[in-house]
Amino acid sequence: HEELTRFKTISFIEIGKHRCETWYFSPLPDYFQNIDTLYICEFCLSFFKYKSELIRHACRCTLQHPMGNEIYREGNISVFEVDGARNTPYCENLCYISKLFLDHKNLSYDVLPFLFYILTEVDDYGCHIAGYFSKEKPGPQYIPGNNLSCILVMPFMQRKGYGKFLISFSYELSKKEQRMGTPERPISDLGYASYFSWWSAEVIKCLEENQGEMLSINDISQKTYILPADIMEVLEKLKILRYNQGNYVFYTNPEFLTRLKKTTGNPGRLVYPENLHWTPLK
Ligand code: COA
Ligand code: NA
Repeated sequence: HEELTRFKTISFIEIGKHRCETWYFSPLPDYFQNIDTLYICEFCLSFFKYKSELIRHACRCTLQHPMGNEIYREGNISVFEVDGARNTPYCENLCYISKLFLDHKNLSYDVLPFLFYILTEVDDYGCHIAGYFSKEKPGPQYIPGNNLSCILVMPFMQRKGYGKFLISFSYELSKKEQRMGTPERPISDLGYASYFSWWSAEVIKCLEENQGEMLSINDISQKTYILPADIMEVLEKLKILRYNQGNYVFYTNPEFLTRLKKTTGNPGRLVYPENLHWTPLK
């Protein structure tokens, strides 16, 4: 198995109008191994080995959006919540697809304990998958604080701010649950870059909005729902936290914060909390 993870066994995927090269091995059922192209129904995520099968399937498949409930719509995007225990094959296929773009080996294919949040772009033909994240349901194995388990933006949709959108979305859910959150570890390099840049922008915004007040790391955490350890990492790496005459202080000179903000890049696609229709599972 160790050996297998080093070699890709599927070179391309075709989904909707997109064709893209895969990045890593994914343990799909044997029937779909060692093929050039995996054909995927963009709505129900069924897999096909031959394009002719996908075309035949598309005539029968009546879905025009992901399974599950639409919980967010704004402009041309919608988010659907899918329960791994209800739409199990759909969620399993989503995990197999994400492993094609994820280096770690510990991705869980047992989807029953997870909810999946599917981001789609909407047009006259339907809601087309752009990315997703999974989140563990509250339960016996629920690790307190993890508000996201796995995140993927489809490669043909990357660098458009959707990664940061999904990250913001995961914290909006945390706000509704009133418990601060952090992504499950390990995080990939791309995942970390997106998180670090998003956390940094949030922390800087919080400091700017509270200029002149004595904030603690816990205060920032209560306002942003970001875990104190993640805030600490931002404050240290950006050198906002400084040691001065025996004390730790936040260096929040306005020009300094403005300069830092420029390094955090694009804010990403924004989440409008008033468009989120969701209540947490108890
Ligand atoms: N090179 C350098 N920096 C990158 C990058 C790349 N290829 N892709 C993203 N980033 C960084 C940038 O800081 C970027 O902000 P910027 O565009 O303002 O500079 C930031 O991450 C987020 O960009 P965004 O457009 O919101 O992210 P995305 O839609 O491209 O999605 C991931 C980010 C991580 C979800 C996506 O790369 C992905 O799905 N990767 C494969 C799966 C994975 O690794 N998931 C994380 C598992 S823990
Ligand atoms: Na971007």
